[in-house]
Amino acid sequence: MRIAMVASECEPFAKTGGLADVVDALSRSLGRRGHEVDVFLPRYRAIDPPGGGAAERLDVPVATAPPVAGARPVAGRPPTTEVIVWTIEEADRRVRLVDHPASFDRPGHYGEGSDYEDNGARFSLFGRAVLAALDLDHQRPDVLHGHDWQSGPALMWAAAQDDAAGRTAQSPSRVLTCHNLAYHGWLPADRAWQVGLPAPAGGREGIDLLGEAIATAGLVNTVSPTFARESLTRQYGGGLHEALRALGDRYVGILNGIDTVLWDPATDPALAANYGRGDRDGKENCRADLCARHGLDPSGPIFGMVGRLDPQKGFDLVAAAAHQLIAMGGRLIVLGTGDASLLADLRATGQAAPDRVAVIDRFDRDEARRIYAGADIFLMPSRFEPSGQGQLIALRYGTAPLVRRTGGLADTVRDVDEQPATGNGFCFDAAEPTELVAAARRAVAALASAPRWAALVERGMAEDHSWDAPAAEYEAAYERALALP
Ligand code: GLC
Repeated sequence: MRIAMVASECEPFAKTGGLADVVDALSRSLGRRGHEVDVFLPRYRAIDPPGGGAAERLDVPVATAPPVAGARPVAGRPPTTEVIVWTIEEADRRVRLVDHPASFDRPGHYGEGSDYEDNGARFSLFGRAVLAALDLDHQRPDVLHGHDWQSGPALMWAAAQDDAAGRTAQSPSRVLTCHNLAYHGWLPADRAWQVGLPAPAGGREGIDLLGEAIATAGLVNTVSPTFARESLTRQYGGGLHEALRALGDRYVGILNGIDTVLWDPATDPALAANYGRGDRDGKENCRADLCARHGLDPSGPIFGMVGRLDPQKGFDLVAAAAHQLIAMGGRLIVLGTGDASLLADLRATGQAAPDRVAVIDRFDRDEARRIYAGADIFLMPSRFEPSGQGQLIALRYGTAPLVRRTGGLADTVRDVDEQPATGNGFCFDAAEPTELVAAARRAVAALASAPRWAALVERGMAEDHSWDAPAAEYEAAYERALALP
């Protein structure tokens, strides 16, 4: 199949969250399976123009002003703007950078502090440039696969083209992956014109780009089976549960994998020592190294946490539970950026016991790897978690995940007290600090029994969370999308 992905993030070009890892690993996996895959990405400021590579210059129409009610159409063409599409040939895919400095040569991807006011225009331009570039290619894609709200305009414009010209055998099937339902790319009425398409009838005033992407895609998925079910409820659906319900069996859950070459304790160059299943001695060195780097006393269980420190990730539960984690003999190491007041609370807790708490307030890929390897227990008390990758990395690095049973966490972590023969971690249900603390106590008790802990960790490390199985599921989803009327 020829697959065109439309995404706002892809490692190693642009990353703010797990989306970037998934677009990267999934696109390469599909390429290795013999498909022809293009990943379209905006060229943000931090991405150097490749130069030398193939570049196409395109004139892309833009919307310049709100349509005035009752105005007559002006003769002639709509205004256009020049966009360059750079193509980078890689072994398993092509990356195509949509270059429009006025839109993307800025400090942030989506905004600084708050969203850029012209996000509707920026991502509509991106989507129209993708479609224009595909028009010039030797062959139309079979599948146009968008990710999250940023791909909404591309899917909407593709649908509008089908409506105008009639859907033909050449029209790509539209697939959307929802990685997160908390971000909609909502455009209020006074910005909806930026997309250049009429605001959808019957909706609220304004345009919900994620909602429109869901409505115009043939097949929609989210990134785990449990979140696919949860998101049909008011509590988890982010206001889109009814739109998702309306899809019926055209909405599915496909669990993410991780890139098992990039995430491998046997080869990870960031670690003080390498190790693998069956020979975990190196993990002890990583543990000692982590403690030494951050002034932690190594003689107690180490709880690690990595990621965006926001309410989705349950960071407030960890901040509230920190005193008790320390009181039970634990050490706590947290890496990530986020809520300043929660970070300050945690620092204050740490000041009283600097050899027990370390807070690293930055985005640091290598330090994250050292925490996955050096901690004993990895905390992911998420309020919601469409898929989650930290728990999968922790499993592979021999660190027991302690998670709230929700979304992808519920699909990948089995509580060892509930399932002694197959468990790979610890789970709790209610998003309460007391529940987190109770699960942590059970984890600390298990850690005290060396053979029990070794068996638990061994089971986790033996699991296969590579992209092989998920990529095959996407393939099947594409086949289904192609067969839809
Ligand atoms: C979002 C979700 C996370 C998921 C990631 C990649 O960040 O919050 O659960 O793992 O997307 O799909």
